[in-house]
Amino acid sequence: MSLITTQPTRRRATFHDLTVSRVDRLTDDAVAISLAVPEELREEFAFEPGQHLTVKATLGGEEVRRSYSCCISRADSASRGEVRVATARVPEGVMSSWLNSEVKPGDVLQVMSPLGSFVCPTDPTARKHHVGIAAGSGITPVLSLLTTVLEEEPQSRVTLIFGNRRTDSIMFLEELMDLKNRYPGRFTLINVLSREVQDVELFTGRIDRAKFEEFLATFIPEDEVDEWYLCGPFEMVETVRTVLAERDVDAAHVHHEIFHVDDAGTPVLTEAVEVAPDAPPVAVATVTLDGRTTTVPMRSKDQTILAATLIERPDAPFSCTGGVCGTCRAKVVDGEIRMDRNYALEPDEVERGYALMCQSHPVTDTVTIDYDA
Ligand code: FES
Repeated sequence: MSLITTQPTRRRATFHDLTVSRVDRLTDDAVAISLAVPEELREEFAFEPGQHLTVKATLGGEEVRRSYSCCISRADSASRGEVRVATARVPEGVMSSWLNSEVKPGDVLQVMSPLGSFVCPTDPTARKHHVGIAAGSGITPVLSLLTTVLEEEPQSRVTLIFGNRRTDSIMFLEELMDLKNRYPGRFTLINVLSREVQDVELFTGRIDRAKFEEFLATFIPEDEVDEWYLCGPFEMVETVRTVLAERDVDAAHVHHEIFHVDDAGTPVLTEAVEVAPDAPPVAVATVTLDGRTTTVPMRSKDQTILAATLIERPDAPFSCTGGVCGTCRAKVVDGEIRMDRNYALEPDEVERGYALMCQSHPVTDTVTIDYDA
């Protein structure tokens, strides 16, 4: 390993200790956790609505990292000096169970500054129709996005189609009803329940292709929508994206995020590829992170660049390791890589050379990676 020291070129997301200021129970199995942001970190934790925070904790003797979307509007975050995340308990989920049952005001959590490209800039002069389609805890980034739109675009209107099992499993029901009261002419909320029969048949069941096409035929013709925000399980998001693509909706206006891989998802740092530590290198990655360049030997091209990098640079950022959260994003400035899965980067980011290191393998014998770019 060789080191070359240069100056950091930009601030990168890093972990900080934040104190829990409030825990709000949203449903029997979901909580929202507010975290106080000290004055000196306010700028660093100023987030774009739709971005997420990674929480790190040692649970059962192992380091666990999970990403949770910010679920507070930009204005509320600034006025309260807080960020807020929400989590629904996942069966056998280590982190979500801990956050749901153990964490209390006064506790200190290790939290990474905000990341993510599921964002949309607002324009106070815009007169747009924004439509959110969310299911379950997919509401968390969508709530932040849509609330900010309502607050910052006074002439725009917002429709949210929100899928859940039953009324008592709806996260943020109170906040959503409050939004309806605050913006009666500009915010329409449609709850779709899969295990509770409603008066309107369209509002009962799951948000699948048939139901979404019916919504397009009745409530939300696609040519009357300017921006789409989709967040929920993979299948729902992909179905809606496919239907919109079939109808020639410009993908640049279809913003999407699948559920963050939560506790039931890809285990952190499980490296499927067995790599003998003394095997001769077959490729070399030159990695720049926080202004410091490190030569990382790769002993198999099936190993991910993240896995190899962490051996030399334990400070390399990651969270889900499943291609979902975007925490491990870096620019490939030289050489060629192949990426297994990408649910985090927009097509234009990939075109500009960015890749997810937890999913990337070298194709050429040398690759140069810049986390600071
Ligand atoms: S660590 Fe989440 S996408 Fe790579």
